[in-house]
Amino acid sequence: MVERLVIATRNAHKVSEIREILGPRFLVEPITAVPDAPEVEETGTTFEENALLKALAISRLCGSWVAADDSGLEVDALGGAPGVYSARFSGPGATDASNRALLLEKLAGVRGKARSARFRCAIALAKDGKKSAAFHGTVEGTIINAEKGVGGFGYDSLFVPEGYCQTFAELDSATKHSLSHRGRALAALQAWSGWAR
Ligand code: IMP
Repeated sequence: MVERLVIATRNAHKVSEIREILGPRFLVEPITAVPDAPEVEETGTTFEENALLKALAISRLCGSWVAADDSGLEVDALGGAPGVYSARFSGPGATDASNRALLLEKLAGVRGKARSARFRCAIALAKDGKKSAAFHGTVEGTIINAEKGVGGFGYDSLFVPEGYCQTFAELDSATKHSLSHRGRALAALQAWSGWAR
């Protein structure tokens, strides 16, 4: 059976990655499929709290499953920043490009293994305003010192996953999905046994 799954995000890159990763078993719909969906403030202190806030709010407005992805980059030399603030790292009006520029600036002078980092993803699943489950994925890697590659989004052109020489922006999307924080969290979502409820 095909499950309808509304994705509670306005980030089109996340929606298209989730659609590609989940494949034909899920009818992945953007938040624009939910009339009058509110802007949900990310006031949580963890990825899971923020994902849950978004999934619960949108699932009160539609009868189908709702999944929300909250994700970000943790850089060890910055004490885990930008973390839950990854999208807003460079302040009001932040863009992916301004966030990457700030990251490079903050890591100037940090060399080699000290540039270790990871992407984390929490996916919360809700229905009718109730939490159903939460899934997590992580990928370890390194922040390089200049952008490489044009694929992906966010910090992809600065992140080289462990065991690879190319950034997520240089790797093809199937390879990114097979290793990524989002791919890993969604593998757990697909294996979840609660779909029939
Ligand atoms: P959120 O909407 O608060 O979850 O923002 C997540 C932010 O983390 C995005 O805006 C990106 O900057 C970053 N991010 C999350 N996942 C990825 C990814 O797969 N590649 C690159 N950057 C990502």
